[in-house]
Amino acid sequence: MALKVWLEVMQQAAAGTGALLGAALQQAQLSLCGTGDAPHGIVLFAHADTALLQALAILCRQARVLAIAAGARPLTCTEQRAVMAAGARDLLLWLPEAVDAGQVLARLQRWQAVAQLLESEAVRGRLVGHSCAWRCLLHDVVEMAAFSQASVLITGETGTGKDLLAQLIHRLSACRGALTVLDCTTLSPELAGSELFGHERGAYTGAAGARDGAFALADGGVLFLDEIGELPLTMQAQLLRAIQERKYKRIGGSTWQPTAFRLVCATNRVLEDEVARGAFRADLYYRIAGWRCQTPPLRERQDDILPLTMHFLRELAHAAPPALDQAVREYLLLRAYPGNVRELRQTVTRLWQRHCGPGPITIGALPPEERLAAPHWPDQQFEAAIRHALALGLQLPCITRAAAEVAIRLVLDEERGSNQRAAARLGVTDRALQIRRKAAACADKAATP
Ligand SMILES: Nc1ncnc2c1ncn2[C@@H]1O[C@H](COP(=O)(O)OP(=O)(O)OP(=O)(O)O)[C@@H](O)[C@H]1O
Ligand SMILES: [Mg+2]
Repeated sequence: MALKVWLEVMQQAAAGTGALLGAALQQAQLSLCGTGDAPHGIVLFAHADTALLQALAILCRQARVLAIAAGARPLTCTEQRAVMAAGARDLLLWLPEAVDAGQVLARLQRWQAVAQLLESEAVRGRLVGHSCAWRCLLHDVVEMAAFSQASVLITGETGTGKDLLAQLIHRLSACRGALTVLDCTTLSPELAGSELFGHERGAYTGAAGARDGAFALADGGVLFLDEIGELPLTMQAQLLRAIQERKYKRIGGSTWQPTAFRLVCATNRVLEDEVARGAFRADLYYRIAGWRCQTPPLRERQDDILPLTMHFLRELAHAAPPALDQAVREYLLLRAYPGNVRELRQTVTRLWQRHCGPGPITIGALPPEERLAAPHWPDQQFEAAIRHALALGLQLPCITRAAAEVAIRLVLDEERGSNQRAAARLGVTDRALQIRRKAAACADKAATP
């Protein structure tokens, strides 16, 4: 597939470098397209001023951006951090016109390869989510799974998809062996040795035959230690050597057996806190956390609720899922999910079980106890935000304007900058939205020192 990318030259001082880079990329068979027409883009600039950072933040919400600074004065460390904080995925520092297309190509090719994996059935069909938080996480996990052999520690609240990510890492890993799963909550001190290392025949009473443990079974594949935060300290000590040296001894055996596996661990505990309070060994922590990722809770990615709902309904219906009445959508969007995606899945299953006949799922499909507790909007979170604004002394015109501006920004982000689609969703005309955006931009400019 031809590599497509957009190139945005932000400041006049970078124009010369921009022309050279454009020509070099075209020579390398890259197809340059308009901003927003490709998921990857390059932002070239000379200095990182406020206007640049604001524009960069908008572009970064719509695409994966490689920022390139090519000004006469090199960026300071603070400026580099500000560029990354604006959302750039990577930053290159060049002198004016010192174009190195190879640096750009390597990154774009990697991003393209990851994008193709993200589109594959192995990822798209099983791990659903449109939110920025979920897409960024998935991109990083896919990249690290397919392009490294690093040990991975997945943390996150219950029901946020840690198991699914572990399975994904196994599918994308270069090793061809099986996924060996060991749930650390089920390990008792008496059985842990045998479960982990296996045992020789007669190693203890009842050991009628030799048996392989998890380290042997994982040879050539991926070893997934689930809920590793639950392991007592004595068992952590047992694990340490096998993980560090990739060799183990069966219980009752005397020879060291080599084993080669990729290690993936998951926990819903904050392991750093556990290390700080002495409940988790620091040396083990650093061996399992070669690379870390954290699954965001569902409340931080509300955009995912409806796509996940339709995904679960599709699975339940084994066909095109039924539509949802507005009241049901609202209920699903406003409800709290302490059990995260697992709880959403159970809620959707309950709706599906009560739904019958053709037509959309209606509010009547909600179990009676949930119907009474059905949340409504404006909800408590909204009230808390308004209370906060009032406490700050803000008055009605200011609160109204701020609410409208946030709504506009969010919809524009979701509609990837399309004024027309955003206006339709907000229930205003294209022209009215354009005027509001212009007014907000002028106000921003006036406020910038
Ligand atoms: N992004 C997702 N797309 C589709 N299904 C998901 C997604 N995230 C989670 N699920 C579903 O939610 C349920 C819980 O996911 P999973 O078991 O991976 O969570 P977990 O973080 O390992 O939870 P726990 O900490 O309780 O073990 C599963 O049924 C899983 O299929
Ligand atoms: Mg799990």
